[in-house]
Amino acid sequence: MSTSRETRALFESLVADATMAASSHNTQPWRFEISEERIRILPDFARRCSVVDPDDHHLYASLGCAAENMVVAAAAKGWEAAVEVRSSGNAHVVEVMLKPGTPVASPLADAIARRQCTRAAFEGRQVSADELALIQRAASGAGVSPILITERAKLESVADWVAQGNTAQLRDPRWREELISWIRFSEREARRSLDGLWSRTSGNPEMPRVLSRLLLPLVLTPRSQNRKDVPWITGSSGVLVFVSDVDDVAHWVEAGRCYERFALQATVLGIRNAFINPPVEVGALRSQFATWLGVGSKRPDLVVRFGYSPEMPRALRRPVGEVLATASRQE
Ligand SMILES: Cc1cc2nc3c(=O)[nH]c(=O)nc-3n(C[C@H](O)[C@H](O)[C@H](O)COP(=O)(O)O)c2cc1C
Repeated sequence: MSTSRETRALFESLVADATMAASSHNTQPWRFEISEERIRILPDFARRCSVVDPDDHHLYASLGCAAENMVVAAAAKGWEAAVEVRSSGNAHVVEVMLKPGTPVASPLADAIARRQCTRAAFEGRQVSADELALIQRAASGAGVSPILITERAKLESVADWVAQGNTAQLRDPRWREELISWIRFSEREARRSLDGLWSRTSGNPEMPRVLSRLLLPLVLTPRSQNRKDVPWITGSSGVLVFVSDVDDVAHWVEAGRCYERFALQATVLGIRNAFINPPVEVGALRSQFATWLGVGSKRPDLVVRFGYSPEMPRALRRPVGEVLATASRQE
């Protein structure tokens, strides 16, 4: 059955909402297949980052972020959405099943276009107990729980874990090359690809790629990264660690959904956030970090700090036309 023109336009608007989600290195590792009653979110393995993300955990978490934006936007537009993760050959697909419902006014949906990862110093004033409860609830999902850290001594320990992770990653030439391949050093580069890490969004100066490549060895060092990250973490209002009960793709997708919902809720409250993932990205550190967190064999998926700051320039996205896949015949 073909989708009516009106429904198709609405589903395409949901795809646009989904593309506003966070994704690792802003790779936007997704393609969307629209059919009668569902939108399938397919992994785009051409955009995987095999060094920082060898098991595709972040890739699937990014699909979860996109799915959550879709669910939140669908409710506001009068569609009920249910998310399922299905295996399909060697991959997994996130299916968002949609049926008509009643539009629900949603501050979270209004926040989709305003959410961002804010790589900046935060003013670490306390978040009220009521607001902490709201962001913790938003960050919770099926088999995924947030661990909230606000005590200064524990934030110092998190900063130390991040510094260890930064040092391991920045000393790895393959990791550096992969990161650099996703950095967009100028507005021209960023607007040409509409993906990747535009230096302006991290508060870094713009310059031609050749010059940047010459300067990077001087600035992209464990010392300079840690000098920035450590005070940014200890000066934040808090840190959230998303932890999965089971280490599988369905939970990684769920962790992405939890992050995105948390970030939308935080945006509504005027609270900014930024990922500090090295302790969960460096395999050798992740299990030690889990022990420190007291979560045993559960997987710490994602780590974010939060607090208050002005917004930063926004990361760019590819348009809907570039991420739509042609629907395959459904079984
Ligand atoms: C699974 C995942 C992992 C990420 N890891 C990091 C990270 O370690 N450090 C960081 O600064 N940003 C990280 N990000 C944030 C992305 O770089 C960011 O979402 C992307 O650049 C788009 O920017 P925006 O979220 O502000 O729209 C991560 C995002 C996701 C979804």
